[in-house]
Amino acid sequence: MKHLLGLKDVEAAEIREILDTAVSMKKLLRQNVKKLPQLQSKSVITLFYENSTRTRVSFELAAKYMSAATVNVSASTSSVQKGETLIDTGRTLDAMKTDVVIMRHPMAGAPKLLSENVRASVINAGDGMNEHPTQALLDMFTLYEKFGTLKGLTVAIVGDVMHSRVAKSNVFGLTKMGSEVRLFSPSTLALPEIGRLGAKVMNSRADAIRDADAVMGLRIQLERQKGGLFPSLSEYNRFFGVNEEDLKGAKPGALVMHPGPVNRGVEMSGAVIDSAQSVINEQVLNGVAVRMAILFLLTRN
Ligand code: CP
Repeated sequence: MKHLLGLKDVEAAEIREILDTAVSMKKLLRQNVKKLPQLQSKSVITLFYENSTRTRVSFELAAKYMSAATVNVSASTSSVQKGETLIDTGRTLDAMKTDVVIMRHPMAGAPKLLSENVRASVINAGDGMNEHPTQALLDMFTLYEKFGTLKGLTVAIVGDVMHSRVAKSNVFGLTKMGSEVRLFSPSTLALPEIGRLGAKVMNSRADAIRDADAVMGLRIQLERQKGGLFPSLSEYNRFFGVNEEDLKGAKPGALVMHPGPVNRGVEMSGAVIDSAQSVINEQVLNGVAVRMAILFLLTRN
């Protein structure tokens, strides 16, 4: 692989290689090793046209921990504001002998377009409602670490499926690795076609969560909605949010996951988010290990 644009076209063996490499990276992080030589002669640029905390910071830390030169470019403070096109911005960064460009963009397909016009490797850090492959890989790593395998696991994903690039990448990745993915969302936020990708579209939250090994909440993406898809946030929480009672339907000790940022008390109750079963903060740490693995694997050749 030269680029990582989505999990749709990534093989199970490649996912396994990323997860196994992330195991080694996590060991180093646990030992507080934060200066490794792997990217010593490489430069990594994050190019974000949308806000981010977890993805941008963890990529920057991952690159720095492996000794890369790093630069962050935010669309709001770059020459994009003066009318420069995506391709011209990409070519400008490429001309500086950049090795990796990590891009987030509100339009589906923008990282692919960039990859076709630059020499650098391109990593998709989230493109519109399409994919967020590195988030799904860190989600899979979190499950792999806890259960030792992804084969035979049942993962319930509950929330705004229609607008979620995290849900789509997880469906592609988890089903390739042998997990069952169940999806539940309000009908106005559903994506029935996702059933054709191998996920099970469920009719109720209880059915989705029943005997699941993990329950993943999805953020309500108000910024991508035109409005009117549900009456109010409190009503959404009442009818569709995951609460402690719902969690009792899952397997004992089932993991509580969320890609973040969380709308506390909307898609999940505070008690669920802060429960002993919650691995939401572990997911954040795993994000650094997985992104170190991805940067290492994409640049080693
Ligand atoms: N999960 C995720 O993509 O979070 P950020 O928007 O903070 O990067």
